[in-house]
Amino acid sequence: MTSPRTTLSLVDTDPAELAVDAIVIGVHSQTAEQGSGSPAGTLLLASGAESIAAAFDGKLTETLALLGATGGPGEVIKLATLGTITAPVVTAVGLGPEPSGAAPAPETLRRAAGAAVRALAGAPRVALALPLPDDADAPAALRAVAEGALLGGYRFAGYKTKPQPGRREPVADVLIAVPDAADATAQAEVVRAQAVAGAVRTSRDWVNTAPNELRPPAFAEAVAAAAREAGLGVEVLDEAALKSGGYGGILAVGQGSEAPPRLVKLTYTPAGGGNGKRVALVGKGITFDTGGISIKPAQGMWEMKSDMAGAAAVGAAMLAVAALKPSVAVTGYLPMAENMPSGTSYRPGDVITMYSGKKVEVLNTDAEGRMILADGIARACEDGADYLFETSTLTGGQVIALGKKIAGVMGTPELCERVKAAGEATGEPAWPMPLPDDVRKGMDSDVADISQVNAGMDRAGHMLQGGVFLREFVTEDVAWAHIDIAGPGYHSGEATGYWTKGGTGVPVRTLVHLVEDVAANG
Ligand code: BES
Ligand code: MN
Ligand code: ZN
Repeated sequence: MTSPRTTLSLVDTDPAELAVDAIVIGVHSQTAEQGSGSPAGTLLLASGAESIAAAFDGKLTETLALLGATGGPGEVIKLATLGTITAPVVTAVGLGPEPSGAAPAPETLRRAAGAAVRALAGAPRVALALPLPDDADAPAALRAVAEGALLGGYRFAGYKTKPQPGRREPVADVLIAVPDAADATAQAEVVRAQAVAGAVRTSRDWVNTAPNELRPPAFAEAVAAAAREAGLGVEVLDEAALKSGGYGGILAVGQGSEAPPRLVKLTYTPAGGGNGKRVALVGKGITFDTGGISIKPAQGMWEMKSDMAGAAAVGAAMLAVAALKPSVAVTGYLPMAENMPSGTSYRPGDVITMYSGKKVEVLNTDAEGRMILADGIARACEDGADYLFETSTLTGGQVIALGKKIAGVMGTPELCERVKAAGEATGEPAWPMPLPDDVRKGMDSDVADISQVNAGMDRAGHMLQGGVFLREFVTEDVAWAHIDIAGPGYHSGEATGYWTKGGTGVPVRTLVHLVEDVAANG
């Protein structure tokens, strides 16, 4: 299931003369003080729109204001140009108050580009003339605009059997107006944005795929096929290989389903051995989470088709890594299982021998993510990782603590700070959380090495229990970070900015950024 493609290119000719279906410009909201006395009220054109404003004889701001434009973030106002410029439509996208620096923050631009391209569905070819700084911040701003445009232009192909009358197709070609289209740095940003946004779109496709179409064998095959095409090393462990390898956690969760579990390993080998460091990425691939014997309520259960968003992000990030070729070795581990209630399911009370050899007492089969991840993490450590980033839709507690937009990060404190910084740089916010001793204490088991959840079924510090449990499977000399994306992995509301409804692709951009960070700085 692949979504329609969007192409991206740079132009440095006058936006007023571009033969496209629509031109996007930015508008700022002014403070009442700034706006007083101006006929346009509180609206201010952003840089990049100069030649278009000139073609409108100075009446552009006033006209947009008459149409209701306020410059608020995410606002999109369309205006027919009636021959004033070559393009038939000008689209003004709100950027919020005028920034103090040279240009708006990258995330503001990313969201604006996304909102504009999304609103322009139906127009095959559009150009973005948004404010870009001409200083050292230029590459980050261009990257943001390019990513936002490609992600706002995403639409899941879906399963409708009949053509939808009046359905507007996503924008096919996006041009970005820059000072110099031949500039090598700018061109490199376009290439990078295509790789990264392409990966985000692939991960959205996987998350949005119906769970009956993406059970572990099919998911493994889809990831393996994409990875082979990208030139990555691919190894798929089927149920027989998992059994002989002793992957008790993955097998326990997978045993309740007729669709058997998998562990997909993807390997990127840098030219010349890279910088000698090894990064491991591990992602939770529960293709559907019913809760198992500890079954979930029916309400909203269908959203648990997104419980493989971590594995989708890791698989997709590996595709971007293959394209970007950073100078560091990267291996992806994607444990996959379907958590079902049946006569063969694992049950509360079971004691499972994990891949690491540790014995875990199962108390709630709905805490299945940590069971499969523990095996993935142990295998990654055994293979010799220096840095291990693991991401998963692990706990409802993450959503309670940090909401639907901010991921929770637990692990080696220094690495958690790097994840937070990567999240800031990419527009995927993440916040460090502690791993308290008393939470670990509550997971002491009467019979096994550790309980899978708090032995008294106490939900206090729910998200932290997940982190504390997974820490048990990380080898001591490995720097690790656990990124809980239960909230930000899936967007159930209406589309906003460059987020479409459904899979978000979080945290693909963070993972790629972290890999590049380790490649550059060790
Ligand atoms: N996949 C869920 C977590 C989840 C919840 C993801 C909401 C996305 C949105 C996970 O497997 C789960 O069921 N967690 C339980 C753990 C509990 C049984 C210890 C939870 O969060 O309630
Ligand atoms: Mn669960
Ligand atoms: Zn789950």
